[in-house]
Parts: sequence; C-alpha cells; structure tokens
Amino acid sequence: MPSALPLADPAPLDGLLPASVTEGAETRRFGVYLHVPFCRVRCGYCDFNTYTSEELRGAKRSDYAGQAADEVALAGSVLRAAGLPQRPASTIFFGGGTPTLLPATDLAGMLAAVTDQFGLAPGAEVTTEANPDSVDLEYLLTLKRAGFTRVSFGMQSAVPHVLATLERTHDPARIPLVVQWAREAGLAVSLDLIYGTPGESLDDWRTSVEHALAQQPDHLSAYALIVEDGTKLARQIRSGQVSMPDDDLQADMYELLDGLVTEAGYDWYEVSNWSRGSGQRSQHNLSYWQGQDWWGIGPGAHSHVGGVRWWNVKHPAAYADRIAAGHSPGAGRETLDAATRAVERVLLGARIREGVAIAGLAASGRTAVAGLIADGLVDPGSALRGTVVLTLRGRLLADAVVRRLLED
Ligand SMILES: C[S@@+](CC[C@H](N)C(=O)[O-])C[C@H]1O[C@@H](n2cnc3c(N)ncnc32)[C@H](O)[C@@H]1O
Ligand code: SF4
Repeated sequence: MPSALPLADPAPLDGLLPASVTEGAETRRFGVYLHVPFCRVRCGYCDFNTYTSEELRGAKRSDYAGQAADEVALAGSVLRAAGLPQRPASTIFFGGGTPTLLPATDLAGMLAAVTDQFGLAPGAEVTTEANPDSVDLEYLLTLKRAGFTRVSFGMQSAVPHVLATLERTHDPARIPLVVQWAREAGLAVSLDLIYGTPGESLDDWRTSVEHALAQQPDHLSAYALIVEDGTKLARQIRSGQVSMPDDDLQADMYELLDGLVTEAGYDWYEVSNWSRGSGQRSQHNLSYWQGQDWWGIGPGAHSHVGGVRWWNVKHPAAYADRIAAGHSPGAGRETLDAATRAVERVLLGARIREGVAIAGLAASGRTAVAGLIADGLVDPGSALRGTVVLTLRGRLLADAVVRRLLED
C-alpha cells in the first residue's frame, strides 16, 4: 500500500492561501501536476499513490477526469483570491499511477481544463507518463492533437528476467514500437530505467542501457531501485526470497550508465537525468528542484506556492467525496520558514548541474567545500566559479555531500 501522509497542520477546507504567497511570485514559474492514481496491477517495488480496480472502494476511474477538472477550477479561484498575478502554465505533467490507463480523451479533457483556467506559456512543456503496454499510435496522436508535447515511457529494463523480478507486465519488444509511434505523433520521448534490481548483472544493465540508447530518446531517467517499506519487494527481501540490491554494484551501474550516455551525446543535468542538449531537459522536474510554484491536482498530490506546501487526501474515494462536497481535497499543509527554505535550496540545488551558490551556504557549509573537493566529490572548477557542482563520485554520494554542506 502507499505510505502514510506527512504530519503537519490540517489544510483548510476552502483551500485558501495566506497573502504571503504573493511575495516574489512574478519571478517564479507556475506549473501543474495532475496525478492519475490508477494501475492495472501494482509492481512489487512500487509505493506510489496508486490503486488497482479492487482497491478503489467505490471510486470510479470514469469519474476521475471530471473531478480533476473541478480541482483545477478550485485552484484558479484560490490563486486569484490570494492576489497572485495571472501566470500561464509553463509546464504541465501527468504522472501516476498510470495516466494512460484512462482514455486519451480524458487526458485531453483534463489538459483543456488546465489551459482554459490558466492559459499556456509560449513553448510550454506538456508531458504524460505512459506504460508501454497501454498506448498505441491512435492514442498518442490524440494526445498530440490535444496539446501534449512529450511522453515518458516506463521502460525500466530490456532484460526479461529483470522485468519479471520487477513484476513489469510489458513485453520489452514493445519499446521500439511505442517510441516509433510517439515520434510519428510528433511527441518528444523520454525513457525511465531502473538499475540494481536483485539478480541484475552489470551485463544485463549494459544491455538495457544500450537498448534504451538505440531508441535515441530525447531524454533519459535512470533510478537506483529503492526498496520501499511495505512493498511486496521489501517482504520478499525480508523472507530471503530475493537478495537486497548491492550498493557497490549499483555504483558500478551508475558509472557505466554515465559513460555510455555521455558517449552517445547526452548531457547529465540532475543526479538521475540526462538529455540531448539543454532544450530537452524536463522543465517540469527542474521546477521542483528550483523551488518554483506548482499546483498538484488529484489524490495524494503535493503542491507548493510561495513557501506554502500542502498535500491532498490520498485515497481516490476520499478525494471524490471532498470534490463532490465542493471542498478542497487538501489534507495537510506547512509554511516553510526562511531556515527550512535555505536547507531545501541546498538539498535540491546540489542535485542539479547548475549546483548551489557557495555564497548562499551557511559558514559551516562554505568551510566544508574545500574538504569535499579534496575528497573528489565536488568539481574544483565549479567552486572557483562560486558554485558547488558534484563530480561523478559526488553524484553517487549526493546525500552525504548535502549532509556535509548543511553541517552546523
Ligand atoms: C509513476 S512511475 C512511471 C509511470 C508508469 N506507472 C510506469 O511505471 O511505467 C515513475 C517512475 O518511477 C520509478 N520508480 C518507481 N518506483 C521506484 C522504486 N522503488 N525505485 C526506483 N525507481 C522507482 C520508475 O522508473 C517509474 O518509471
Ligand atoms: S505501473 Fe508504475 S505506478 Fe503503477 S505500480 Fe508499476 S511502477 Fe508503480
């Protein structure tokens, strides 16, 4: 089951925001995330907020696009009531769950609700995640006609035994097909890979990376497999049925990946992300790392506007009830103080290619930089230019680097 929500203050039923959110708003981009909380089956490693048909407790997938459109309308009135300037959406991202389990016309309707409410900034990025087994050419053409610009396929691996351990249901032979269809439809393509699956060898991983690169995607994300508490994978590891992912092997896999993708002409721009040139970076994900404003629509979705962060009730049935009653689906929220915002700037900024400005660090963090350079974790050239940018080894140990930058 998905994990519990964070503890914080309850969010108000009218969803209204304090006037403080307007401060500096004209310097921040605005984006919209739409969560689609449905999957046909749950993969054994996944603790995303997603539900199979049997887990929906009366909520209906077919009602969801309308509920999401209602929350979009609420978002428009809450942002106006707070006195925020009208900002068109720079990025829109449909994530899941499996957005492509819904008919393409539902996704088109949700997108129209967002663009009617906020408008679209010139060159806006509109992405959906997609499972390779839930789209065809017609589906992708409908998305393109509706205004989508980009699709991100959950490839994960090209190796059948790895996909089987992950409990992925798609046939790897489908990847070239869906990528070709997306291209024909005129959509930019990103592929998601996972490395460090129990039983996956370095050669298996090389095969997956080479298969991914053979598709010439515009963008590639590669995530180290995380064993999340409460998942089937965690239970299988506890009972000794499968082995724990090996940290050293995962590090070797990351190094191999970085070498292969760099050789193929991709640029690294975030710990887990590479693109063909800066124009193909995921602008939506960058806005999370840069602390921009975004509204998260749907069950369990998180939002951030001007230092106020909130999250919605998690279950689709609870969400449907709130929306039907004309209430905000917000469950909890917190207002970030200046110290927390400074810590988050380091936590998020250290993950991206632009790095963190040394001048913005506390005195202890500034002192730590020389030691991090000596340990080969921070690029000395970047420090001369006044920023902390991680080396390859630094990216592998990003959490430890951030801890040292935040040390008191
Ligand atoms: C919401 S899923 C993507 C959409 C779609 N449902 C799918 O799985 O293809 C987002 C991505 O998160 C990654 N992911 C999910 N659970 C993970 C875990 N436990 N460890 C590492 N990566 C994970 C996968 O690569 C997945 O493609
Ligand atoms: S399809 Fe994606 S969201 Fe659904 S259970 Fe699998 S990894 Fe999680």
